Amino acid sequence: MKVLVTAGPTREKIDAVRFLTNRSTGKMGYALAEAARDAGHEVTLVSGPVALAVPRGITLVPVESAAEMAEAVKERAPQMALVIMCAAVADYRPKLVVAGKMKKREGDLVLELERTEDILKSLGRMKPDGQLLVGFAAETDDLLANAAEKLEKKNLDWICANDVGRSDIGFGSDENCVTLLGRDGRRYGIGPDTKRAVAEAILEIVTDSGQ
Ligand code: C5P
Repeated sequence: MKVLVTAGPTREKIDAVRFLTNRSTGKMGYALAEAARDAGHEVTLVSGPVALAVPRGITLVPVESAAEMAEAVKERAPQMALVIMCAAVADYRPKLVVAGKMKKREGDLVLELERTEDILKSLGRMKPDGQLLVGFAAETDDLLANAAEKLEKKNLDWICANDVGRSDIGFGSDENCVTLLGRDGRRYGIGPDTKRAVAEAILEIVTDSGQ
């Protein structure tokens, strides 16, 4: 299968030396990409800035901002049988990017932010027949209800609900524990286990559902 995975955070520029980002390390997305490769799939990994080694045997497309990720993903998605959006894409970016380094001034500074494109929602709208679309829902509250709502709203086949309020799993850790919710109402609890093992379980369930 041709598989596209996104991973990591995005960086949204404030000026030449500053940016907004989040705590994503990319570990879950890289584990998914590597597990898909080892299962024999042809994998493209669109990755925000992370400190992880470039995986062998995978086409890596490095990006920085949500806009760059949107462009890279939307260009490639139509050719893919499976798309997994694991990246922690910024929801907002500075409305104006200052050229050069912004000078310090007296008093407070207000940063005006604007929404970024919801890439997954766009993919849900342009989804070709037969393509499997998988999202992640990183939540601290009402995990399953919010995930189920996203599954519906973004026209997904599966969503992985990830409780990021716990420090032992989620962002930065080597372990994860997710609930995989299917469009057809199926529900699987996966983990706690290594991100690699969680990735393998997700892939097995999702690719089986596409046959
Ligand atoms: O709505 P929320 O941001 O919680 O949804 C999370 C899912 O949507 C993840 O799969 C994430 O990769 C994707 N997403 C996206 N573009 C955004 C924000 C989130 O593709 N701007």
